[in-house]
Amino acid sequence: MPSQKPRPAARRAPRVVASGLAAKGRRREPSAKTKPVGVPEGFYRDLVWNLRNGVLAVTRDGRIAVMNDVAYRILGLLPQSTDIGLPFTQVLKERPDVSRIVAGAFDLSHLPNRAELRLKSTGKVIGYTLSQVKNPEGGITGATLFFKDLTRVEQLEERERLRDRLAALGEMAAAIAHEVKNPLAGIEVMAGILKRQLTESEDAQSILRDIIKEAKMANAIVLEVLDFVRPIRLQVERCALSDVLRDAISMAESHVPRGDVRIDVVLPEELAPIQGDPHQLRQLFTNLMTNAFEAMVGKGHVRVVAQQLPMEEEPAAADTQAVAMIQVEVFDNGPGVPADVMDRIFSPFFTTKPQGSGLGLAIVRKIVDAHDGRIDVSARAEGGTRFRVTLPVSGSHELFG
Ligand SMILES: Nc1ncnc2c1ncn2[C@@H]1O[C@H](COP(=O)(O)OP(=O)(O)OP(=O)(O)O)[C@@H](O)[C@H]1O
Ligand SMILES: [Mg+2]
Repeated sequence: MPSQKPRPAARRAPRVVASGLAAKGRRREPSAKTKPVGVPEGFYRDLVWNLRNGVLAVTRDGRIAVMNDVAYRILGLLPQSTDIGLPFTQVLKERPDVSRIVAGAFDLSHLPNRAELRLKSTGKVIGYTLSQVKNPEGGITGATLFFKDLTRVEQLEERERLRDRLAALGEMAAAIAHEVKNPLAGIEVMAGILKRQLTESEDAQSILRDIIKEAKMANAIVLEVLDFVRPIRLQVERCALSDVLRDAISMAESHVPRGDVRIDVVLPEELAPIQGDPHQLRQLFTNLMTNAFEAMVGKGHVRVVAQQLPMEEEPAAADTQAVAMIQVEVFDNGPGVPADVMDRIFSPFFTTKPQGSGLGLAIVRKIVDAHDGRIDVSARAEGGTRFRVTLPVSGSHELFG
């Protein structure tokens, strides 16, 4: 098994090994003799350590030679001091998709440069380059996987796409509203006049009441659509999540009878207040809770769990400032979202409910985006659904429409 290089300091030492190749005098890392003047001892090790990309290198016999901390973090694995020298298939056994890519370095004739992969286990998207390590004679002595977390980039792109879709939708909705609103108002007014004139006929009164009611409903739908496509202007203030959630629960209860649904809210006492728009945040959690109540039809369990996430630099973000994030998970044990519609539920007007408008989750996403947050949904193994909302404690809020 290859030996480990001495580490200058525990915190800064990369998981790098001088592989067995060194013993054969074939290492391409400059030796003390050939090292260019001015490159200090340990420079190459520090270089790997300080890269903001994940680096994973394996020797020709399939053992881990280098795995930096970014690699562990992106792959969601815990660094073990014993990993160096172990077969990569063993270290990456919980990430078989990554293991398969690394194995390809020795089998494929053409290695991917700038490929992407969504990790099945964590849902993260990584962008990677796979290279072979060759000795001066051209013999393959190992392979390197160089990768970056693109999850945030993907989300930003998705947000861009949504923004474009909403802009197109907004124009269409405004045009429809323009065409439909006046005739609707006309129908309502004229039905009102008729109703006053035909006081004698009970049949006519009843039909006209229905006409007025339907016209009002159609008008309400037009207003709802217009409201949805209008850009959100956040009124940002410090808001306590406990208040937001309490209000959201009672608003959801006023929309759907809660019945025997039990609600547990788990909030750490020291949870930081969020810089956000309390009205919009209330709306966000009301919509999630309303969906949960509707899914469980009067019987079940909703659990809301909030926690502050450890500060994590987002390597793929445009600015790499570490941001404090709060995560709120809303679990229910209803029937769950059918797998074949899972990727459509955030789309405007997608609904499986006879009375639904399909705007609830589209609004949720819009509010999350306006707060610079993230949202995802997953099915729970034990049945039911989990929505996970991540919000920055203080975001660079913008107008989002
Ligand atoms: N907790 C959940 N459990 C099961 N399915 C869900 C859940 N939340 C959302 N869905 C599915 O996602 C669809 C879209 O939800 P969304 O809130 O956008 O619209 P809606 O609830 O159908 O209508 P609206 O919210 O406008 O009244 C729902 O019709 C439902 O099929
Ligand atoms: Mg809904």
